[in-house]
Amino acid sequence: MKVGVFDSGVGGLSVLESLLKARLFEHIIYYGDTARVPYGPKDPATIAKFSLEALDFFQPFSIDMLVVACNSVSAWALPAMRAHAKIPIVGVIEAGVLAITQSTPKNAPILVLGTKATISSGRYARELKEQGYGFVDSLATGLFVPLIEEGVLEGALLEACMAHYFAPLKSAPSVLVLGCTHFPWIAKPLQSYFTNRFKSPVHLVHSGEAIVARLRQVYNLHPHTSTKLELFASGDQTLLEQLAKPLKAL
Ligand code: DGL
Repeated sequence: MKVGVFDSGVGGLSVLESLLKARLFEHIIYYGDTARVPYGPKDPATIAKFSLEALDFFQPFSIDMLVVACNSVSAWALPAMRAHAKIPIVGVIEAGVLAITQSTPKNAPILVLGTKATISSGRYARELKEQGYGFVDSLATGLFVPLIEEGVLEGALLEACMAHYFAPLKSAPSVLVLGCTHFPWIAKPLQSYFTNRFKSPVHLVHSGEAIVARLRQVYNLHPHTSTKLELFASGDQTLLEQLAKPLKAL
């Protein structure tokens, strides 16, 4: 099966990594809209417009399925994209919620991190509450996205950004939802921050692992021995190529 993977930039590579490890597809075409990243601070209509333009990008490749490896797009543009496409379009939020329901007790304190677009949509909080989760907090931490797009994955700048967002937190979450596909690139610093600050372990929920589980469940996909990978970007491809290099060996 030939699948497209779409994100606003390099974040979707964290989902791509999970897809490559799972060997679910014969051919993956990754497209990052690096010329227009970040999507998170943009309004829903603009996110939907850019997402429909991404569908146009994939048109000549005749893909069989599109994985939307972006929470901000999953939050706001899936209905419009599905209305314009004849192939299945799979988003990361429904997969993330499913992963939480399968691994997390209902009384667990959950903190959802995401872009402004994702958090303002209320999708995670609403769907988790509908599933009976009573202690869900959400925090828009979109400044991490430009840092990651600049290749800042550790160090003083990232520490200052974490302190800026997390200093006001009063209690420890036991589950941290990485509700932006960029955030797995800073999973280690996030984990260290929470463990050091609250002296208790925190479980991270990752969109890539969640989507692999959902694809396996819904589409009955069988592992392939190898995957052909093609990478495209609307703008600068340097960081995309750099971060994707180790993935090509998977
Ligand atoms: N990686 C994306 C997400 O999951 C988008 C980040 C952005 O472009 O602001 O939301």
